[in-house]
Order: sequence, then C-alpha cells, then structure tokens
Amino acid sequence: MKNTTTADTRTIRGAVLETTGAARPFAGSTPLRIQELTLASPGPGEIRVRVEAAGVCHSDLSVVDGNRVRPVPMLLGHEAAGIVEELGDGVDDLALGQRVVMVFLPRCGECAECATDGRLPCSAGSASNNAGELLGGGRRLSRTTADGTEPVHHHLGVSGFATAAVVDRRSVVPVDDDVPPGIAAVLGCAVLTGGGAVLNAARPGAQDDVFVVGLGGVGMAALMVARALTSGRVIGIDQQAEKLELALELGADEALTPEQAVEHGISAPFVIEAAGHPVAFETAVELTGPGGTTVTVGLPAPDALSRISPLGLTAQARSIIGCYLGSAVPSRDIPRFIALWRAGKLPLERLITRRIRLEEVNGAMDELAAGRAVRQVIEF
Ligand SMILES: NC(=O)c1ccc[n+]([C@@H]2O[C@H](COP(=O)([O-])OP(=O)(O)OC[C@H]3O[C@@H](n4cnc5c(N)ncnc54)[C@H](O)[C@@H]3O)[C@@H](O)[C@H]2O)c1
Ligand SMILES: [Zn+2]
Ligand SMILES: [Zn+2]
Repeated sequence: MKNTTTADTRTIRGAVLETTGAARPFAGSTPLRIQELTLASPGPGEIRVRVEAAGVCHSDLSVVDGNRVRPVPMLLGHEAAGIVEELGDGVDDLALGQRVVMVFLPRCGECAECATDGRLPCSAGSASNNAGELLGGGRRLSRTTADGTEPVHHHLGVSGFATAAVVDRRSVVPVDDDVPPGIAAVLGCAVLTGGGAVLNAARPGAQDDVFVVGLGGVGMAALMVARALTSGRVIGIDQQAEKLELALELGADEALTPEQAVEHGISAPFVIEAAGHPVAFETAVELTGPGGTTVTVGLPAPDALSRISPLGLTAQARSIIGCYLGSAVPSRDIPRFIALWRAGKLPLERLITRRIRLEEVNGAMDELAAGRAVRQVIEF
C-alpha cells in the first residue's frame, strides 16, 4: 500500500543549482545536484503539487550559465505540471487529484500591472520571483547541511525539477485529465510564451504572414500557433538544420537560415523573435515589413545590445513590442491552446523531442546549449 504519511510527502528529491557559471559540459561540472530537500506544508492560499513532468527551457539554462542572475541555492525548473496533493487554507476552488499547469509568473490580481490584460507582468509576482520566494512571501524549501538547516530558493514560484512543489494557487491553472502531463508542462512556458506572442501580442489576421526567428520550444510553439491561426505564409528561421526540418513537418511554408531569409529579401507584417540572441533580434527587425510589428520574446544577457536602423522604423512605420509570458492571462489562454490542441490544430506532442529522468538534467542543459533539443521533458 502506498505510504502517505506527512513525513514522507515532506521529503522531496530535486535538482538544486549550487553555483552559476559552471564550466561546460555541465554533465561533467554538475552545477545541478540531485538531492533530498524538505518541503514545508502549503501556507494559506498555497497548494502542494506532485510533479508529473517538467520541461527544460532556455530560461533554466540562462540561470545555470549565469546569463540571468538568480540567488542560489535554487531548486530550478519553471515549466511543470502535476497533481494537487494538499490544499492550504482558503483554497476552495481546486480538488485533490486535479491536474494543474504551473505558470512561471503568478498574477496577484490586485496590482496596476495585473489590470493590463496580460500586457505587463504582475509587479508583486515579479518581485517574489526575483527574490526566489513564493507570492505569499518566504520559502517553503530547505535542506539539511553540516551546520543545520538552510533555506533553498524557489525558481519563478515553481521549482518544478522535483518530485513535488508547494506553489501559490495563483501560480497554477487546472486542466482536464485528457491533457497528458508532458503537454500540460509545456503549456506553462513554451506554449504560453511563444503561442501568446502570436495570439496576444502580434494578433495576425486570418491571412497575414508570420515569420518566427529562433525555433526552440518557445519559437516552435509560436510557429504552431501561427499555423493554426493564419492561412498566410508561415516561415521558420533558425541556424539548426533539424529545427528547420521540424518546422516544415509542422506546416511551415518555408524554413530558412537567417542568412537565406535576409538574402531572399522577404518580409512579413509579423515577425516573432524567440532566439534570445541580439543578432536574432536584428534579423527579426530586418525581416519586418512596412507597417509591420516585431515581437521580441527572447531573453538575451542583460548587457547584450543590438544594432537597428531608426530610419527604417520611422520611414516604414514599423513597431517593436516586447512580450513577457506571451502577454498572457494564463487562466484565459491555456484553455484556448488546449481547445486548438483538441481540435487537432496544435500538435503539442511534437514539441517534446526527448523524455528524460531527473538525474539527466545536467546533460539536458548541454543538449539545449548545443541547440539539439526542442523540449526535453523530465518525467517523474
Ligand atoms: N519572454 C518570456 O516570457 C520568455 C519565456 C520563456 C523563454 N524565454 C526566452 O525565449 C528564448 C527562447 O527559449 P527556448 O527555450 O525556446 O530556447 P532554445 O535554446 O530552445 O531555442 C533557441 C533557438 O534559437 C536559435 N537561434 C540562436 N541564435 C539564432 C539566430 N541568430 N538566428 C536564428 N535562430 C537563432 C537556436 O538555434 C535555437 O533553436 C530564450 O531566450 C528564453 O530565455 C522568454
Ligand atoms: Zn521558460
Ligand atoms: Zn499583480
């Protein structure tokens, strides 16, 4: 019989980032250490989730390689899904056993930013994310050291590279059982971010062309959503041949390297940048046609700069929009993506190119850094 004593459920296994900027390959330097941690009970307004699946996103890699500075030790992972196991006080709209998607930016629902229909990140959620805490304040993760007990930071209110997580109710969106765990996981970041960039920020018409620069999990999700929404030309742009092949399989009309796209002199009214590299941003701006909009989603290093022509923007009345978390209201948009998936218009399973165990997470960071993976999903 399954043991469900409190003591057992409080001890979890997770991947803790000990130092940033470790040498590559990470499979050798192992900046993420798999270890036992103590998970406190959910506080008021919080829930405990047994994690079923967690995707490995470039934003995790950016914390590992130091491009995105976060406090350590930190239990990484921000794209995950699982089953509700315990409800904190006051959570009365979720049931035990419910599958939930965890979302990497909680919305408090009370700040001025939360009133912008998803356009601006919640200020309280951003502050708790930056502090490595939950929205309600503080940390529910700790570990035993030689000197006693040490708190461990949460990653973006999720910390999904673990067997279980305590998260704020406002960090999750419930989904039906027909949504498999891996798909539920990628809905929380890749699909919400890339898909939201098309659905909420670009908003192409039914016949508009859409280009996507950078075809990792986020860009490939953007490409899929664009394909689902428009009969115009959808073109995927990346340096990696395998990414271009997959883009064609997913219905892109063309798949090109950045050099080919620029050489061909093509342009589109909507171009999504999802590479996280300043040169990719330049490519995206260059490919944006007169009156068109570049939507930038990538998160390059904080000191990265791009060169663009102001004259080109002015003379051609072009716009550039930044888009965090797909400018999404997750509770509204995740059901929209699921509806497209159920209708057969969004083959989200194709985003998952590899399924791995928690112990393989350092190697997964190497695969991602080499550009070989779309989404690698840790299964628990
Ligand atoms: N805005 C947000 O809310 C948000 C959320 C999640 C991820 N992100 C960011 O989005 C970016 C993409 O994330 P991902 O997980 O899909 O990353 P990824 O590493 O899986 O994919 C990036 C892709 O860009 C390609 N690329 C790199 N340089 C390029 C260039 N110059 N031209 C064309 N393609 C190029 C790579 O080959 C790769 O296929 C990252 O910067 C990530 O941190 C942002
Ligand atoms: Zn992510
Ligand atoms: Zn808010």
